[in-house]
Amino acid sequence: MNPTALTITIAYSAVVLVAAVAILIVWRSTHSFERNRKDTTNTHRLAEGEKPWFFFAVAALALLLLSTLTFIPYGDNAKAEGQQAVAVESQQFAWTVTPSTIRAGVPVRFALTSKDVNHGFAVYNDRNILLFQIQVLPDHTSHIVYTFKEPGRYQVVCLEFCGVNHHKMVGTFRVEE
Ligand code: CUA
Repeated sequence: MNPTALTITIAYSAVVLVAAVAILIVWRSTHSFERNRKDTTNTHRLAEGEKPWFFFAVAALALLLLSTLTFIPYGDNAKAEGQQAVAVESQQFAWTVTPSTIRAGVPVRFALTSKDVNHGFAVYNDRNILLFQIQVLPDHTSHIVYTFKEPGRYQVVCLEFCGVNHHKMVGTFRVEE
């Protein structure tokens, strides 16, 4: 198992465990095991107690929004100067990457277009690990910035079903020192 898959597996297992415990706590809190128990719950006091939680949730969401807003558009938060511009043209069923040789360690700004239908531009390293992917659309230029750390051969795979030969829509480019 590669490190990314292991991280994902551990993270998902932790989330499932937390969710299972939460469900058990909720289930236990809503089931009374006493017979003929009189309901003495002070609902007014509980309703009052919900207000701070409501404002806490709103404040937390606002904080999350404000602290992540500058990262939009996704993947385009690198400095503009010194970037390498790479144009990617897609069509059923091929990729044209210009230039086809890219320098390592310098941010690459991909500008991607499609001549026909939607495609999915996914870049894998030579260990078949997915580095990033972005949707490519007709009549629109998509942008993504990525810095290749290691020189080598990289593979492009289409991850959006685009027709009968979708599975053959692969390409390569080289990253050099
Ligand atoms: Cu292009 Cu699938």
